[in-house]
Amino acid sequence: MIKDELQESITEKHARIGVIGLGYVGLPLIVEFALKGFDSTGFEVDEKKAAEVNAGRSYIVDVTGETLSKAVDSGKLSATTDFSKLGECDVVIICVPTPLRKTKDPDMSYILTAGGEIQKYMRRGQLVILESTTYPGTTDEVLQPMFEEKGFKLDEDFLLAFSPERVDPGNPQFQTHNIPKVVGGVSSDSTEIAALLYSQIVESVHPVSSARVAEAAKLWENTFRAINIGMANEMAKVCNALGIDTWEVVNAAATKPFGFMPFYPGPGIGGHCIPLDPHYLSWKARQHGFDSKFISLAEQINSTMPNYVVELVSTALNEEKRSLNGSKVLVLGVAYKKDIDDMRESPALSIIDLLRADGAEVEYHDPFVAEVTFDHAYTIGEAEPLFNQELTDDLISTSDCVVICTEHSNVDYDRVCSLAKVVVDTRNALGKETRDGSKARVVRL
Ligand SMILES: NC(=O)c1ccc[n+]([C@@H]2O[C@H](COP(=O)([O-])OP(=O)(O)OC[C@H]3O[C@@H](n4cnc5c(N)ncnc54)[C@H](O)[C@@H]3O)[C@@H](O)[C@H]2O)c1
Repeated sequence: MIKDELQESITEKHARIGVIGLGYVGLPLIVEFALKGFDSTGFEVDEKKAAEVNAGRSYIVDVTGETLSKAVDSGKLSATTDFSKLGECDVVIICVPTPLRKTKDPDMSYILTAGGEIQKYMRRGQLVILESTTYPGTTDEVLQPMFEEKGFKLDEDFLLAFSPERVDPGNPQFQTHNIPKVVGGVSSDSTEIAALLYSQIVESVHPVSSARVAEAAKLWENTFRAINIGMANEMAKVCNALGIDTWEVVNAAATKPFGFMPFYPGPGIGGHCIPLDPHYLSWKARQHGFDSKFISLAEQINSTMPNYVVELVSTALNEEKRSLNGSKVLVLGVAYKKDIDDMRESPALSIIDLLRADGAEVEYHDPFVAEVTFDHAYTIGEAEPLFNQELTDDLISTSDCVVICTEHSNVDYDRVCSLAKVVVDTRNALGKETRDGSKARVVRL
């Protein structure tokens, strides 16, 4: 029985693990397996990433070079671009991107390519797990038929499961090993064996009755965040209209020990998850004749936050008798969240675009991001790339307005406030003391 064979090889740590896609999700995952003594092979299309892994050099914030080197030096971890080695693996885990098309429909091409590679080299006895975030039904509607087409039978020849990844890059408290893992197989054998596998590397595994439940649970989690951030953004606009301090309000509400969970407003949502994942759910719901209104509304509010920030900048400059057109604007922080270098879907891109479209001269400083390029998806103004500028006294004092888009920890906000003319703070990065003692005029979201 394939179930018994896999059970034994996993328990004895003989199972060979393959991970397809060594990005924010795949690299920390494969390192955990290697450090627990499993022979682990990473499959990448990007030759540079494969070479970096083999050299023990990490390009992912949650994996230190030291940890990666330890895994590589132990002989348990290697990376390759040769997908024929997939046939040597007992377990194959897919961690490829799941972006949206321009139409905001799911782009399944990465999952299809990875599934195609598995299909090509598949042999009897493998467990395949999909981790990429996707709509309910992907695992059993898309992957299962690909493997069956090859003549393999579920439970007799292969097992198949979905297990969502919940990694939060840059979060020092929760990392792969201590984030509970939801696991749902397309058969009960698949659930059982996939749960056994993850219990080797994570502290808590939560099995569910199907892959679809696991797929939907991930989308529920991220839709919950998108909608609550949408509400926080709307509350910020309401508070501003009423002349009440948004941050004082949310911090006061957050003292309630039950029934309230604080979400904070910001310049818009970014990253590979929150802006995208709810669309996977609404797309699938639409196919079943259901229109998910909360998702649309949150999207509408969140995606227009960059415009709101630019309005705040424009108004602040106006009060200084200046127009946006011709003003020098310094954007502080361009990554989508603090203390990481991830630029995917960062609202700072839209803000810079909108500022430049209105004639502002924009520079940016971000200790984590050396260069910002603008592809056609973002650009409505100039498409010239921008380069990180050193945060000199001169840069701050000669800017007409400083806009804090990301509240990185290693920026001296006291110095910014002592030199700037006007600061628009979209993250509440300036503590109350800094604000009160500030020479600059501070406008907050
Ligand atoms: N980044 C996060 O915080 C996060 C959190 C939870 C879930 N997820 C989900 O996990 C999945 C992966 O996200 P990520 O952030 O790791 O993406 P990523 O872009 O950082 O990494 C994906 C990697 O896959 C590689 N790749 C693409 N096609 C490939 C193929 N056919 N074969 C082999 N490698 C291939 C890319 O080169 C890249 O290195 C997505 O579905 C995402 O929604 C991401």
